[in-house]
Amino acid sequence: MTTIGNAPAQSAPLTESDVPALPGRTMAQRELQDWVNELAKHPELWEHHINHEGGRRHYASVYRDSNIDVWLLCWNTEDDTGWHDHDISSGAVAVTHGAVSEANPRMNGEPVHRVVKAGRSFTFGPDHVHRMVGAFDGSVSIHAYSPPLWRMGQYSIGPSGVIRRMSVSYADELRPMDEQSLVEKSTDRQLI
Ligand SMILES: [Fe+2]
Repeated sequence: MTTIGNAPAQSAPLTESDVPALPGRTMAQRELQDWVNELAKHPELWEHHINHEGGRRHYASVYRDSNIDVWLLCWNTEDDTGWHDHDISSGAVAVTHGAVSEANPRMNGEPVHRVVKAGRSFTFGPDHVHRMVGAFDGSVSIHAYSPPLWRMGQYSIGPSGVIRRMSVSYADELRPMDEQSLVEKSTDRQLI
């Protein structure tokens, strides 16, 4: 990679010359993971976004161009994305502080869970459906997506196991969907 530029003023958006070298095209899972691991080694580029003040979720756009989208997410244990996918994007997540918990839904079974600790990373393709929560208060992770997020799928799984997908904007805050209201709608439909 090329030498990463000096950290810009905290209020200035990062430019391509500030971040690890990018290929200028959509990135495959493994190179996306290598890239986000490299970015994680340079806290001067992202640590000013860290904020764990209570009462609301904290996340920040670190960098975005036509091929990659990078976010910093701050986690407390009550923070929960709900079930979602990333539409056509692959993703890579590097955990820099604490740990995050990832779950994958399983038909007719309990979700698969794993905890990813600081210093570790993982990657996934567009086929991936997951839910993330903070494993510890004060956790931080950096997420890179390629191509950049535009639409995402947010899921609810009702008490009967029925799954529904709602297309949402990448700018919407992911959260567990109101499963009870969806169940009521479903019941209404069955009466028609
Ligand atoms: Fe995700």
